Amino acid sequence: TPTQNYEAEDATIVQGVVESNHTGYTGTGFVNGDNLAGPYVEWTVTPSAAGPATITLRYANGTAATRTADVRVNGALVQTLSFPSTGNWDTWSTATFTASLAGGANTIRITATGADGNPNLDRLTI
Ligand code: GCU
Repeated sequence: TPTQNYEAEDATIVQGVVESNHTGYTGTGFVNGDNLAGPYVEWTVTPSAAGPATITLRYANGTAATRTADVRVNGALVQTLSFPSTGNWDTWSTATFTASLAGGANTIRITATGADGNPNLDRLTI
């Protein structure tokens, strides 16, 4: 399956804003979600084939504390994801999970579960 990249700034953003005031992002910016539980970014992805996919989120967490999120694929909770510190807001890392994708369009929603909200989210890759 060829790699597909989906920028966070092009996704559906609830309780967050697109910013570009830290360096190292891809595309035109990243999503800074509000600092509470509940904000999310939802991508619609269309894999070249149905089946299991490795999905990678590029993020920055400039705080010392790990942030956490629920991963939902087509509305179903797949797992919780941890985003450990990246040291500062200009340094990006990746968090990876696997999910079974359907043929055609699929939604992937990353919902902050901690009081600090999501990390800054740059891009999703399948
Ligand atoms: C800082 C940083 C933001 C980040 C925020 C946070 O304000 O500049 O980019 O989103 O912290 O704690 O989430």
